[in-house]
Formats: sequence, structure tokens, C-alpha cells
Amino acid sequence: MGNYTEEINRRRTFAIISHPDAGKTTLTEKFLLYGGAINLAGSVKGKATARHAVSDWMEIEKERGISVTSSVLQFEYDGYCINILDTPGHQDFSEDTYRTLMAADSAVMVIDASKGVEAQTRKLFKVCGMRGIPIFTFINKMDRDARDTFELLDDIEKELGIATCPVNWPIGSGKAFQGVYDREKKCVIAYSDTEKGTKEGKATEVAVEDETHLRELLGNEAADKLLGEIELLDGASAEFDLDAVRAGKLTPVCFGSALTNFGVEIFLKHFLNMTTTPLPRKADIGMIEPAENEFSAFVFKIQANMNKAHRDRVAFMRICSGRFDANMEVRHVQGNKVMRLSQPQQIMADERKILSEAYAGDIIGVFDPGIFSIGDTICMPKDKFQYEGIPTFAPEHFARVRQMDTMKRKQFVKGIEQIAQEGAIQIFQEYNTGMEEIIVGVVGVLQFDVLKYRLENEYNVEIRLENLPYEHIRWIENKEEVDLSKLTGTSDMKKVKDMKGNPLLLFVNSWSIGMTLDRNKGLVLTEFSRN
Ligand code: G4P
Repeated sequence: MGNYTEEINRRRTFAIISHPDAGKTTLTEKFLLYGGAINLAGSVKGKATARHAVSDWMEIEKERGISVTSSVLQFEYDGYCINILDTPGHQDFSEDTYRTLMAADSAVMVIDASKGVEAQTRKLFKVCGMRGIPIFTFINKMDRDARDTFELLDDIEKELGIATCPVNWPIGSGKAFQGVYDREKKCVIAYSDTEKGTKEGKATEVAVEDETHLRELLGNEAADKLLGEIELLDGASAEFDLDAVRAGKLTPVCFGSALTNFGVEIFLKHFLNMTTTPLPRKADIGMIEPAENEFSAFVFKIQANMNKAHRDRVAFMRICSGRFDANMEVRHVQGNKVMRLSQPQQIMADERKILSEAYAGDIIGVFDPGIFSIGDTICMPKDKFQYEGIPTFAPEHFARVRQMDTMKRKQFVKGIEQIAQEGAIQIFQEYNTGMEEIIVGVVGVLQFDVLKYRLENEYNVEIRLENLPYEHIRWIENKEEVDLSKLTGTSDMKKVKDMKGNPLLLFVNSWSIGMTLDRNKGLVLTEFSRN
């Protein structure tokens, strides 16, 4: 429809998922380098000590003096306009990390070649899997001794339940890592002169059929090994099928080393070639097509106190369709209000760039005077549809909260409810008692500190947190059919309710979940809540 189709079609919006230390920051830096957004990549110094409470990207910003938004990083490469969404890891890991995945159209999964699939990758993958978005795998750190390549692929298939299709194949690992074999072109790309901090080294391409040259290039031992592996591989691996990739059922796999610039640009090219333009999204009136519909967006993250000097809240929205113009009027559907978005911007570490326009696929941050909630829809004044809500993700850490000064009950309840509304924590009550006992659940433990700090500083309430042993939470999907008082679980199971009165069960281990399901026929439990 609009003349903005071209702008939308060149957008690629994705998240990078990985376990801490697999190389997400380094890979991101190299992408920026190839995109020309920075001149010279190099390891971000002092990161190990400095990065605890801040996003990895904020570190890149500080170190490199470039403007990267703390929530999304936009750059151009080869005609594409790329938006990489930050999925905070480490101690920053929280429900926001999961919510961010709701705003992505695909994910790049970075795996450490010596470790294979790790805990956090598994968790993040699960959320991507729920949405069926395409996932592209980069097996990193091939310059270190790696696990056997077949074994690594097997690990992904078994641990994550997704089929793999190697796009290329590594030649050796550790000191013997020489490059990759491109399966489509049937040639070997070997590197020389790669240096930390420069662009990819000089690549030499040799067709595998040209065995004499191949042996000259790689040496006999490596060439023999490679030829043997290619034969095995062609017989064993899944056929490449772009539809299966787009449906999140098959992950293309590339190998390389982000640190030493082996195979990063090759991966980026393959990825951009295979991943999707901004995807249509489900609303209550049907699917909304990015290029065919006028402006619409949904809120996926609300961040309080972005700037200590201003003490404000910023709502992050993913534009799902059309073109956004800072001067236009929009409708906030849940608030039933037509308005102009206040100070639409890309959020930078120290500065904020006011935006004049943006397109489907882009992320914008707007000043939020306290009206937006996670999952809210923003669209044209004439429209009134709502996007499908963002699920509530299962917290994995729980604590009982007690206020120190019982006289401050009102402030305490107000504070904790507001912080819960922003989505930083989830609060539960004992099933049978009132608000006396509040249980807080978080996805990442840092949120406990954030809660304590904010209650003290913003609401003047001191609290004490007592950790609880629960690790699993389940909503009761068929709550109308289940009498909670009669439900029998294991002795360590706890019955609670959320703020909307929905019944929930807390478990210490997954074994207890199975036991409880066995003991209560017909009970349906779920890990994500959509209400
Ligand atoms: P993350 O964002 O996923 O947590 O990982 P990050 O990029 O910070 O990388 C974690 C560590 O792994 C860093 O080392 C980084 O230099 C190293 N690394 C990343 N990619 C590669 C690779 O391809 N090969 C090798 N050998 N190492 C890689 P560090 O010691 O924690 O930091 P630094 O002191 O080197 O900066």
C-alpha cells in the first residue's frame, strides 16, 4: 500500500540469545564493525569487572564512544536496516529478557564450541520456540579446542529439539582451525592474516574438487579429515528447507570465531539472506501485515528511572505495521485515548535521539507518564484493534517479603503493586490469607535487589526478604474445573494466587510437578500465563 513498503522490507529485527560468555557481545561488535557503525573492533576492556549492573551494550558504548541504544542497536549493512534487540544476560537477566524476544522476528543463537548448549540458551530458546520464530546458530570460539562437530549438532538437536542444517563446516579447531567449508558452493574458505580487531582476514577459496590445491592449502591430514566429514555429512544431515527454517523447525548452523574474525561476515550474509522481513502479528481482528497496514505498535518493555536526573519511565514499543511519524496522532487502545506520543526517541546511554520517523520492525522508546502497561496496543486513531498479550513468564526465584515498619503498610502495598505493574517482579499471596504475606517471584535474582532499593528510595519503605526454596511455578489452566482446596500435591508444594486471584502452584523441583499431575487427574498446568 504505502510508499514505505521498501523501507519496511529492508528491515531485519532480531535478538541474540546465548549463555553468558559464549560471545554475544563480541559477535555484536563485529556486526557493527562490518556495518561500518564502528571503525575498529577490539575486546571491550575491563568488562569482566565493570559490566555487572549494566547491559553489555552500554559497555560497548562507553568503551567505543559510539551511540548504541541500551535496548536496541540499529545499523545499516548491505542495504539492510538491522535492529538487534538487547537480551540482557548475566545478573541483568529478568523477565524483560524474555519479553524482548516477543519483539524480535528471529533469533541468532550463539554457542560456545567447547561447551555446547548451556542453561541460559536453553531457557531463551524455549521462549523463541513458543513463538516459532526462525533461529540461526553461530557456533563460536572455534579458535579454541572445540567439541566434535557432529557431537555439537547432536547436542542442539537433543537438548533443544530442533533439527540442524550446517551451512558451513569447520576445518579443525583450536590452533589448527583453518577456516570453513561452504556446503553450497562446495569450496573451502581458509583464512590468513586475521588479526584481532581488524576486518576478516584474507580469505582463500578453493573448490574441494580441486584436491591438489586443497591439500596444499590445508595439509594432508586436515584435508583427509574434511573430505571424510563431508561424505558423512552429506549422507546424514537434514536437507536444507527454508520453510522449515522460517517456521523455527530447522536451524541453519555456521561456525567461526568472533574474536579472531573467522566466519563472522559469512554468517551475517547467510543470516540476512535467510531471515525474514518484519513478520505479521496476531491481533483480535486477525493478522496485521507490516506493509499493508498503517501504523501500529505494542509495548513490550517499561523501564523506570532510565535517567536518574529525570526520574521517569520509558515505554518501549515495537512497531508492527506502517510508518510512524512523530507528529501524528495515535490511539492508545487500552487507555481509550487519542494522543501524540511524547518525545519518541531512541534511547542512548547518555543522550536521547529524538526520532522523527520510524517503520515497522523498528523499536521506539516514548516517555510514559504512567499510562502504558506491557502488552498495550498503539495504532491509528481510526483503529481499535488489540495485539495478542505478552505472556507472563514463570519466575524462578521466590522470596517472602516483610516490611520492617508495620505503620507503613499503605506505602508498602502501593510501592510493591506499582513495581509489579511495571513487570519487574510478580507478586503472589498465600492462598488462604490476605495481603499479610506477600511472596515475590522474579526471573533473575538482581530484581530482588532492585525491589529492595526502589522501595527504600522511592517509597521510603524498608523490607526484609526471606528466600524460599521454590523454583517452579505453574498456573492452573483449567481453574474453573479444579477445586483448589481439594487439590493434593507433594508436601513441599505451595498454593498461592496472583494479583488477579488466579490460583497457582509453587514447586521445589520438577519431580513434584509430575507427582501432583499424577495425583490429580484432569489437572492442566501451564508455564506461561496469557491473562
Ligand atoms: P557474552 O557477551 O556472551 O557474555 O560474551 P563476550 O562477547 O563478552 O565474550 C566472553 C569472553 O569470550 C570474552 O573474554 C571474549 O573475548 C571471549 N570470546 C568471544 N568470542 C571468542 C572467540 O571467538 N574465541 C575466543 N577464544 N574467545 C572469544 P574475556 O576474557 O571475558 O574478556 P576479554 O578480557 O577478552 O575482553
